Amino acid sequence: MYQKVIVCVVGTRPEAIKMAPVVLALRRQNFFDVKILATGQHAAMLDQALGHFKLTADINLHIMKERQSLDHITSSVLTGSGEYFDTVKPSAVLVHGDTTTTLAAALAGFYRKIPVGHVEAGLRSNNMYLPFPEEMNRVLTDRITTWAFAPTPLAKENLIKEGTPEKNILVTGNTVIDALFYTVKATEKPACEDLRLLPENAPFLLVTAHRRESWGEPLENICSALNKLLDLHPELWMVIPMHKNPAVRETIKKNLGGKKQVILCDPLDYPDFVWAMNTSRFILSDSGGVQEEASAIRKPVLILRDVTERPEAVENGSGILVGVDREKIIKKASELLVSSEYYNSIEKRCDAQPFGNGTASLKIAEALKADLG
Ligand code: UD1
Ligand code: UDP
Repeated sequence: MYQKVIVCVVGTRPEAIKMAPVVLALRRQNFFDVKILATGQHAAMLDQALGHFKLTADINLHIMKERQSLDHITSSVLTGSGEYFDTVKPSAVLVHGDTTTTLAAALAGFYRKIPVGHVEAGLRSNNMYLPFPEEMNRVLTDRITTWAFAPTPLAKENLIKEGTPEKNILVTGNTVIDALFYTVKATEKPACEDLRLLPENAPFLLVTAHRRESWGEPLENICSALNKLLDLHPELWMVIPMHKNPAVRETIKKNLGGKKQVILCDPLDYPDFVWAMNTSRFILSDSGGVQEEASAIRKPVLILRDVTERPEAVENGSGILVGVDREKIIKKASELLVSSEYYNSIEKRCDAQPFGNGTASLKIAEALKADLG
C-alpha cells in the first residue's frame, strides 16, 4: 500500500528525547511512512538519546563541527534537509522545539510548500536574547507552522496573541512526559559507573548547565556558588553530567575538577539521568526540558536563568528562578537543604501536572492522520 511520508527532524539531544515518542506513536498507527532525519547538529548526544528509544535515523547529515557557529548550523541544515525533502517528497515535516535545526528544517519545508508541524509550539520568554537564539527560533518557526502542537494552554494563548489561527493549534501536553513514562520503568539502578561512586543514600545535587548566554562569567558564578555550597554542607555530593560542548566543559573542569564528593561525568543516558533526577535532593539547571521533567516528578529545580519560557513550572512550584547570581544560588540552595518545611511545601504544591499526562504523542499522531488521511 502506498503510504504518505512524514519526516520527523531531530538535531540535538532534547529534540531526540521529545520527538521519539511522536515517531513511535506515528509508527504504531501503521498509516504513514515515518522517516527520521537527523541533522547531526549534535553527534554523540543525539545518537545516545535516539538509542534509548531504539530508533535510528533514516539519514544523518552529520553537520556537527567543534565549536560550531549558528551560521554553519543554519546553512548546512537548510541545504541538507532541503535535499532530503526533494528525495523523499514528504506530505508533512515535523520539527521540535527551538534549536537552530528546528528553524532551518522548518524553513526548508516552507520553501517547498510542505506543511510543517511544530511540536512544542508557542513557548515564549518574550525576550529575544533570552534564551539565545532559541526564543527567535521558536517565534520564526511558529510563523512557518501549519500544525502548532502547543504543550500547554498558555502556549496556545501566546500563539493566538501573535495571530496564529485557533484552528491551527492543538493543545497536546508536552511529549517529554511521554518520554518520561516510557523510561521510568527502566531506571531502578543506574548503569553508569561514575554514578556508582555515590555512597548509598548520600544526599546529592544534580547540576546541568549549557546555555549559550551562560558561557563565560555566568557559568563561572554558578561554579563558584557550587563550591561554596560544598564548603557549607560537608555531607553534600554533586553529580554534574557535563554537556559535550568544550566551552562548557572547560569552565566546569577548571572550577570543580578533582573536588571531593563531586562527580563530573559525560552526558548520562536518559534512564540514568531520570534516575539521578529522582534520587537527587534537588536539581540546579538551565535546561528547558529538565524544568518540565522536574515538575512532573515533583522535584525542586533551581532554574539557573533570569527568565523562563516555562512559567508553568514556576507556578506549579517545582521551578524556582534563581538566575546566575552567586549569592542568590547559595541562599536558595541552602534554604532547600536545611528547611524541610520549605522543601516539603514545594513537593506538595506540584499537583497540577501542567505539562500533560503522557498522551501528547498520541494526540499529535491522531491529528495528523485525521488531516492527511
Ligand atoms: C544546542 C541548541 C540548544 C539546546 C541544546 C541542547 C542551538 C543553537 N542550540 O545547544 O537550543 O538547548 O543544543 O543540548 O540550536 N558537541 C559535541 N558533541 C555532541 C554535542 C555537542 O562535541 O554530541 C559540542 C560541539 O563542539 C558543538 C558544541 O558542542 O560545536 C555546541 O553544540 P551546539 O548544538 O551548537 O550548541 P548547544 O550548546 O549544544
Ligand atoms: N538529559 C540526559 N542526560 C544528561 C542531561 C540531560 O538525558 O546528562 C536529558 C534531560 O532529561 C532532558 C534533556 O536531556 O530530557 C534536556 O536536554 P538539554 O538540557 O541538553 O536541552 P534543553 O532542554 O535545555 O533544550
